[in-house]
Amino acid sequence: MSLIYEPSRAFSKEARIKNMCEYKELCLQAEDDYTGYWAKLAREKIDWFEPFHTVLDESNAPFYKWFLGGKLNVTHQCLRRHLNVRKNKAAIIWESEFGDKRIITYLQLYYRVNRMANLMKNKFDIKKGDRVILYMPMIPEAVFAMLACAKIGAIHSVVFGGFSAEALRDRIEDSKAKLVITADGAFRRGKPYMLKPIVDEALSIGCECCKKVLMIERNKEPVNYKRGRDYIYNELIMQESQYCDPEPMDSEDPLFLLYTSGSTGKPKGVQHSSAGYILWAQYTMEHVFDVKENDTFWCTADIGWITGHTYIVYGPLAMGATTFIYEGTPTYPDAGRFWKNIEEHRINQFYTSPTAIRMLHKEGSNEPSKYDLSSLKVLGTVGEPINPDAWLWLRESVGNNRCSIVDTWWQTETGGHMISPLPGATPQKPGYATFPLPGICAEIVDNNGNQVPRGKKGLLCITKPWPSMIRTIWGDSKRFVKAYFSDVKKDGKPVYFSGDGAIMDEDGYIMITGRTDDVINVSGHRLGTAEIEAVLAHHENVSEVAVVGKPNPIKGEGIFAYIVLKNASDNIGEEIDMIKELNKLVVKQIGAIARLDAIKFVPGLPKTRSGKIVRRILRSIARNEEINQDTSTLENPAIVEQIQMLDAN
Ligand code: WTA
Repeated sequence: MSLIYEPSRAFSKEARIKNMCEYKELCLQAEDDYTGYWAKLAREKIDWFEPFHTVLDESNAPFYKWFLGGKLNVTHQCLRRHLNVRKNKAAIIWESEFGDKRIITYLQLYYRVNRMANLMKNKFDIKKGDRVILYMPMIPEAVFAMLACAKIGAIHSVVFGGFSAEALRDRIEDSKAKLVITADGAFRRGKPYMLKPIVDEALSIGCECCKKVLMIERNKEPVNYKRGRDYIYNELIMQESQYCDPEPMDSEDPLFLLYTSGSTGKPKGVQHSSAGYILWAQYTMEHVFDVKENDTFWCTADIGWITGHTYIVYGPLAMGATTFIYEGTPTYPDAGRFWKNIEEHRINQFYTSPTAIRMLHKEGSNEPSKYDLSSLKVLGTVGEPINPDAWLWLRESVGNNRCSIVDTWWQTETGGHMISPLPGATPQKPGYATFPLPGICAEIVDNNGNQVPRGKKGLLCITKPWPSMIRTIWGDSKRFVKAYFSDVKKDGKPVYFSGDGAIMDEDGYIMITGRTDDVINVSGHRLGTAEIEAVLAHHENVSEVAVVGKPNPIKGEGIFAYIVLKNASDNIGEEIDMIKELNKLVVKQIGAIARLDAIKFVPGLPKTRSGKIVRRILRSIARNEEINQDTSTLENPAIVEQIQMLDAN
């Protein structure tokens, strides 16, 4: 029996959704008239240029289309419409690690975005539908660039600044981007780091499609310029007009691509739409964070992940809130930095990852008590399961037993929250994402699409289309269908399978148990085992490789590689060199987030008679779990014990 924490009465009284009756009422409305429910919201929330005539077109499932006939521009929703009522309100408050601050009002942001949109049009000939890659640090210009793309109908694809030149190259090439927007670099842990040289390297190893680079000066470190290719934002931007007409976009016109890892092959470009996505960003900000007019909202994610897209940029701005952006690391100069930021800016909603919470708990469990955190109302977590210890520390030490905690489950593919407590309504249980948002049909099923009994683990599916769902994988619609709509059928119809496992307890609460496929979740970042294996297999001395995840007390999961070498060596020194070399390879080709926690050289890998590597057994070995699979049917049953012996050493 786990403990249940009710929302504070004072908070519930003021919240949009005040209790479970109101929550259930909304669920019933959506159940009674599914399309009517979303149509009403879309009419109320979106400031349309032209109204839509069809709510949901299912004729080409699973390529669902929402709000057909409607015309809008997401920057009108996020900026222009606010100018009548809150033009001098802070849209962005930004702070660097050194404590420098920038406050950008809605009017200023509107002008900045327009200037950048004009620059892209005039100087780089960017038109509606063109792809633009953003490889940026956490500075306001990253937001200007995203919104400038949206303004002129270009499709942005932000690449996380921790990815390597090869990973960046792959994304530029896959999206056939015409322009890369980057910065010279930025600062981390008080020191400068560089981005532009990585762009240079990416463009030197491919990327025929990309002819121009726009660079923002941030850390002012020396960089190379290529005449005719590289341009400096700071020199050009003031020449552009601060007015720019928005491109009228169809509801289904793509807003952005965001690459994410799957269980097979290269990362896939998840494509989101304009209307459905922005509706969801705003709907969830209102319901899940219950943000009010004078609130300041802080999401600590990097802008390169979906959480940064929806909850730093599009969600807060769509609803006219103030979004706080912090450039640096949580522990600079010490483990009190986050709490200092909250005190100083009177943050009202704080949204972060379980990894960050576990790290701050470990490195400074008393730090929160040194700061005034009384402005906080809602605390949110995302990206990975949160263990009850971390949840309780967050509630007690940061939230002073007063704030609601929203453990939000969602994915790059869902665009925004799917399963989460509503802070004024839902009694919360540590470790549980609780209930689907009103209108979301989440079911936990077996391979045949039948609901599994309560208390049993099953596959987490969303059984009806929703407005902010992934539209396709860029350039690969077959892969889209295969990855999401082929594993589970309900009433003979394929339904969206998330790749996650989940359990519903006796009270109907949903607990996410993690990925069921070959995706590892390191600090909330998704990495495909296949991607890492492909890199390792490239090494000339690697014969076979299998990568699995192993629980890690801070990062959630760490990466483990089992490798069979072509020329094995008994020499410890040589082994250590080899480990270093392999790690270097992974960091070079993917980025530092893919650094391996451990590499074990083994004489062979457990395989079926048809030659398939049985990763499940390796996963159990890595976790020191008992192997309950029958190993006698393996092609090489003795190998299991041999690996176990090696692992014990
Ligand atoms: C995991 C991040 C447990 C899950 C928004 C999902 C979670 C993947 C939670 C998506 C949560 C996300 N509890 N696990 N509250 N939220 N996940 O695409 O495995 O980077 O499939 O999107 O993170 O990661 P992505």
